[in-house]
Amino acid sequence: MSGLLLAVETSCDETGVALLDGPRRILAQAVASQVALHAGSGGIIPEVAARAHLRWLDPALDEVLLAADASLADVGAIAVTSGPGLVGSLLVGVAYAKALAWALDVPLVGVNHLEGHLYAAWLLDPGEPERPEPPFPLVALVVSGGHTFLVEMRDHLAYRLLGETVDDAAGEAFDKAGRLLGLGYPGGPAIAAAAAGATGRAARLPRAWLGDSFDFSFSGLKTALRRLVEAELATAGRPAAEEGGRLPEARVATLAAAFQESVVEVLAVKTLRAAAATGARAIVVGGGVASNVELRARLAAGTADLGVELVVPRPGLCTDNGAMIGAAGARRLAAGERAGLDLGARAAWPLARPVGAPATRRPPRRGPAGRAYAAIREAEADTAGGAAVSGGPRPAGGPAR
Ligand code: KG4
Ligand code: ZN
Repeated sequence: MSGLLLAVETSCDETGVALLDGPRRILAQAVASQVALHAGSGGIIPEVAARAHLRWLDPALDEVLLAADASLADVGAIAVTSGPGLVGSLLVGVAYAKALAWALDVPLVGVNHLEGHLYAAWLLDPGEPERPEPPFPLVALVVSGGHTFLVEMRDHLAYRLLGETVDDAAGEAFDKAGRLLGLGYPGGPAIAAAAAGATGRAARLPRAWLGDSFDFSFSGLKTALRRLVEAELATAGRPAAEEGGRLPEARVATLAAAFQESVVEVLAVKTLRAAAATGARAIVVGGGVASNVELRARLAAGTADLGVELVVPRPGLCTDNGAMIGAAGARRLAAGERAGLDLGARAAWPLARPVGAPATRRPPRRGPAGRAYAAIREAEADTAGGAAVSGGPRPAGGPAR
């Protein structure tokens, strides 16, 4: 590929455009956030998000070209998020990227948003000194609003799933807890900010360890917090949380800290354990929750003890952005991948599947089927030494989270 790589991200509520020189170097990038647009509704309204992407793509592209002192003639290839995400939002970016690729007659590649979060760890900011790439083998934790999983990478673009959430994603749990505590949307940064002001100690909230597995579960924690908040609101004679009832500020801070501690401890302990178990030389973390200061501090301490390198992008590259799509897209292009003008949007697109999972169905997670499946998975992992799940060319689709 010659020329610069233009990357477009519109999978959720941030319009991201970036210009990269090579697979790692950001020349310029712009992220138009819709947080203020969705704050009033307490969550994202897909139709509103899609229209906002349409509104902001052109200005974001102009800004990036201006900042990089470049023109469209310098663009040699285009990478665009084609899933997973909100289909309406994805389609805006995909249609935009296809039109540009056709008009400029340059190659196009569709990128998995989750792979983008992971490859953010490879990025170099404009002017940032060169540093070595994260060394393989490594363990990568992706913690975003819609996904939470751990994979092992022994090479570029090859993933072995170690564990994933069996219910809520970590960011989703933060967002729900934020709503319960009356902290608004998005909950992650709001809970982190509230927790920073905590002085008292709350009752310890539960942690779901799920035995020795590398899977995660956050719904029990959310329920425990809900019960606590409901009971305390009722005792104080205040309205329920969904009717706007709120606990005193100091109590909200204490509960926010307890909630954050519970999520962060499980994420950090399991990730460090996975690194030790697989002989990883590095831990890479991506996704919005990776901007959490407590999580970063805990992983920093743990990796120092283990003698493993920790690579967490700066917070602005942890949350959704175009540059990360460029970082993953550049690797896909270098591997020879090209998308046609029939490139579509995929609401669901797992980066890696559990060992033995059917190709097109989400495996059962709860009840007797879930337990039977877990047993099969364990047995398979034993006999196959945890065989590879997916890698190389983009994995085939199937409904999943
Ligand atoms: O990766 P991202 O920007 O979008 C998705 O792909 O989902 O992640 C957004 C998520 C939200 O759930 C948000 O609450 C969470 O990341 N988040 C945080 C923090 N900043 C963002 N969670 C915890 N602590 C933070 N500082
Ligand atoms: Zn994301």
